Amino acid sequence: MSVRQLRLALQKPIWRATAPLRTCGRGLRALATVAGSAQNHKPSNYGQPLFPSHPHLLKPHELTPGIPADEYECRRRTLMDSLPSDSLVVLVAAPIKYMSGTPEPQSSYKFRQASDFWYLTGFEEPDAAVILEKTSNSRGYRMTLFSSGKDSAKEKWEGARTSFEDVVSIFRADDALPIHVFPARLKSLAGIYSNIYIDSPNASTKRPPRTAKSLLRYLRQPLAPLIAKLRSIKSKREQQVMRAAADISGHAFAKTMRFTQPGTSESAIAAHFEYLCSLSGSQRLAYVPVVASGPNALIIHYTSNNQVIQDGELILVDAGCEYNGYASDITRTYPASGSFTSAQHDLYTAVLTAQKALIGQCTETASFTLHELHRRSCDFLRVELNQLGFRLHAGEVERVLYPHFLSHPIGIDLHESSNFDRGELLKAGMVITIEPGIYVPPLPQFPKNFHNMGIRIEDEVLVGKEHPMILSVAAPKEVADVEGACQGLLGLQPL
Ligand code: GLY
Ligand code: MN
Ligand code: MN
Repeated sequence: MSVRQLRLALQKPIWRATAPLRTCGRGLRALATVAGSAQNHKPSNYGQPLFPSHPHLLKPHELTPGIPADEYECRRRTLMDSLPSDSLVVLVAAPIKYMSGTPEPQSSYKFRQASDFWYLTGFEEPDAAVILEKTSNSRGYRMTLFSSGKDSAKEKWEGARTSFEDVVSIFRADDALPIHVFPARLKSLAGIYSNIYIDSPNASTKRPPRTAKSLLRYLRQPLAPLIAKLRSIKSKREQQVMRAAADISGHAFAKTMRFTQPGTSESAIAAHFEYLCSLSGSQRLAYVPVVASGPNALIIHYTSNNQVIQDGELILVDAGCEYNGYASDITRTYPASGSFTSAQHDLYTAVLTAQKALIGQCTETASFTLHELHRRSCDFLRVELNQLGFRLHAGEVERVLYPHFLSHPIGIDLHESSNFDRGELLKAGMVITIEPGIYVPPLPQFPKNFHNMGIRIEDEVLVGKEHPMILSVAAPKEVADVEGACQGLLGLQPL
């Protein structure tokens, strides 16, 4: 940006909170003040659903559906409290990804906010950034949010954006500034603070600095591991949103089992599942679903989903929706014909027995790490397979029959694992998956009646102090429930 552009930018109005902003945990400055105008809520005047424009999606005190503005305040406060004095935190919104670039106008993929940025701000617009400065005032930090602001020409194409005034009053920024002044503001603050935490893909670059930009790169410390620690324990509100996401996916599973017949295509099953989730309010799928019939289930990440279901086959479906910012992740394996054959029943029961035993150990008092649970999953499966007549050699379960890990943490992201230590003890409030599987290749050392079967059973589990809670309980799992759902005998909950 040139000096002239910078000067022009700084002449633009700056919105600043006029009253002291509320501190974490003390009462509410809800959207209720803005909510007075909620009756006439269309068209939206904001860059995302908010109570005044979308009272059917949010409650007055919520900033994003299910999560109150106060909770975002607490997240920021907790993060800033954990940092040394003289700290600056910088996060940038996700970039827009384009499906088609030329000729203009460009057509973009549906925008999804960067997870950490969203976790701390609840702000869902692209072209945004936030700076948090640690302070000694009662709030504990100062927040500057940079965004597009109102731009009628741009909004005609892309939809409404939140005004700077509303960024202050609704998102609780101390200051709201246009995004184009972000580089200059960051540069000037970088000279003042000695601890700079930045969430960015290459935060570890450690070459000596030559320019202001590289000075910032040099000074910064990675923020992602600190936020990952906060995100790993889910609040009550987050647990409720995650339960709702898992319920949507679980009910969609039950109906998708009923929908499946010999002759149905894998892609139709994927489409049906996604349609049911969308109908229930999900914004997107949390990942590309696996719909693997017969031997396709031996490919762990099978996503081609372009075969046709044959009578007598098993179908492995690994699918989950994202709902109000949180992912769900469920796998079920069920018979195309509606009834398990005897061999399918035996192998399914083996995986199910192990899976249920492992879920029972997802408590703080059991004192297990993910590594230990994984090791136990191999042991449980080995015992089950031996009972079915497998003659297993050392390491064959881990290397051949069950080549993936048991579990991962889940939340805003499907795999909240990049900064998660698998050697850490499980704590109450964590949400993890438990997903053992057995995939039998057609090799002579394995019993022939199980050849080409792939079975995985995956649930999301909320770790409790004494008891685990299965969030994905709506998806049929017991043999009788799976067969009942496939045959249309289960009371299916209406959408
Ligand atoms: N669906 C991806 C996983 O289970 O991790
Ligand atoms: Mn998973
Ligand atoms: Mn999965």
